[in-house]
Amino acid sequence: MPYLDQWCIRCIKYNRNIKTFVILTLIIGSITMWLGSTDFVWNSRRTMKFKWIFSKNIGLTNYTNDAAKAGQVKKHISENATYEVVRGPGYVSVQTLGRLGNNMFQFAAVIVIAKHNKMMPNFPKGVLDKIFNIDRTILSNKINKTLPTLRLQEKRASAYDKNVMRNISRNTNVRICCYFQSWKYWTGIQEELKKEFTFNTEIDTTAKNFIDQHRNMNQTSDLNVSNIILVGIHIRRTDMAKASENRRGYLTAPKEYFQNAMQYFRNKHRYVRFIVCTDDIKWAKNNIQAPNVTFSIGHGSGVDLAILSHCNHTIMSTGTFSWWAAWLANGEVIYWAGWPKPNTEIGRTVEPSDYFLPHWKAMI
Ligand SMILES: *[C@@H]1O[C@H](CO)[C@@H](O)[C@H](O)[C@H]1NC(C)=O
Ligand SMILES: *[C@@H]1O[C@H](CO)[C@@H](O)[C@H](O)[C@H]1NC(C)=O
Ligand SMILES: *[C@@H]1O[C@H](CO)[C@@H](O)[C@H](O)[C@H]1NC(C)=O
Ligand SMILES: *[C@@H]1O[C@H](CO)[C@@H](O)[C@H](O)[C@H]1NC(C)=O
Ligand SMILES: *[C@@H]1O[C@H](CO)[C@@H](O)[C@H](O)[C@H]1NC(C)=O
Ligand SMILES: *[C@@H]1O[C@H](CO)[C@@H](O)[C@H](O)[C@H]1NC(C)=O
Ligand SMILES: *[C@@H]1O[C@H](CO)[C@@H](O)[C@H](O)[C@H]1NC(C)=O
Ligand SMILES: *[C@@H]1O[C@H](CO)[C@@H](O)[C@H](O)[C@H]1NC(C)=O
Repeated sequence: MPYLDQWCIRCIKYNRNIKTFVILTLIIGSITMWLGSTDFVWNSRRTMKFKWIFSKNIGLTNYTNDAAKAGQVKKHISENATYEVVRGPGYVSVQTLGRLGNNMFQFAAVIVIAKHNKMMPNFPKGVLDKIFNIDRTILSNKINKTLPTLRLQEKRASAYDKNVMRNISRNTNVRICCYFQSWKYWTGIQEELKKEFTFNTEIDTTAKNFIDQHRNMNQTSDLNVSNIILVGIHIRRTDMAKASENRRGYLTAPKEYFQNAMQYFRNKHRYVRFIVCTDDIKWAKNNIQAPNVTFSIGHGSGVDLAILSHCNHTIMSTGTFSWWAAWLANGEVIYWAGWPKPNTEIGRTVEPSDYFLPHWKAMI
């Protein structure tokens, strides 16, 4: 019966098509839902420019939620925290991205947005807790799931966005995204942040011992050690030296910049010792060949950050790790004015006056 055979072949084909269609629909559907419900961790730098198509954006809300009147305020003042966190119903959380420097910016943003709106900061335990004495008593490790969660997204990663500091109704949770790399957000909480970012004893001791060992190396014996000025140099290369990253606008500072910056400090101080922390020790040793230079080798990022933060002054390179080293050392700071590359993705994202502090000095 050829007719029936043909029909059956068609019917099998038809069934296959239906199956393929259903499976494809399921796959596309799940991907769509997943995209709509995550923070684009896998590719967040690139997606910063995309709008949140699937998620609700926060509208301007009327700040009438006077929790004190409603009797909901529980003052929660931790032993050592200089600021008080009012335990409001809403929580501020973030999807952590990147490594140490990025996490520090995100932490600062969570704290300041929570404080501004009298909400509860939420920050996952992670890299920061391994390095600093983060006061966990002012942070929550969960959120109130009965409240709606809205997303609050910055416009650009390294530019101040005043909408981030808008007033938010406390009857919501807020999930913030993404980088918040501007000192302008947290001018009011600098001291609190310094306190949160004090290094744990193990890291601090390792860093201080290293500094003490090298501070006086090759100096004349009659020199009073406390007259030596320590200048921390951070040299970031590896990922930022890649052609693909260069095309996006990331760059690495050249040898001449470090030489100029070092000369600046030599001219200014009688006794200078430089301490170099880097992710590319080979390049650093080949290019920073000068007397009175010590290289930090084999330390983790926490110890390196502690070493740099205990120096009197800072010579930055590119990247947020450099930024925090300079901020923590809180001395004179030289940064490389060659970054970011103009007319690139990063060049359009960074607003230098929002990113670099006004008293930091640009050099090339
Ligand atoms: C905000 O809330 C207050 C108090 O409930 C009310 O008087 C005011 O009109 C509201 N403003 C807006 C813009 O909704
Ligand atoms: C508060 O600070 C003191 C001294 O610095 C320290 O001993 C104590 O453990 C701290 N408490 C908390 C909760 O961090
Ligand atoms: C969560 O929020 C709701 C609504 O404001 C509130 O009634 C409830 O007590 C909150 N739960 C916790 C654990 O804070
Ligand atoms: C936010 O709230 C504070 C205090 O209630 C108020 O002083 C400030 O003007 C508000 N800011 C905006 C942008 O509405
Ligand atoms: C080193 O210098 C500091 C401050 O300049 C001074 O207080 C200290 O007594 C000096 N130490 C010695 C051993 O001269
Ligand atoms: C190195 O340090 C010693 C002692 O601080 C100083 O006398 C010497 O001039 C320095 N060398 C250079 C090249 O800066
Ligand atoms: C100390 O001096 C020795 C001999 O002059 C030299 O080989 C060494 O590199 C110097 N060390 C530092 C850290 O400058
Ligand atoms: C340089 O830093 C050290 C700490 O590493 C500090 O003891 C010293 O007083 C600082 N010197 C100056 C001139 O600030």
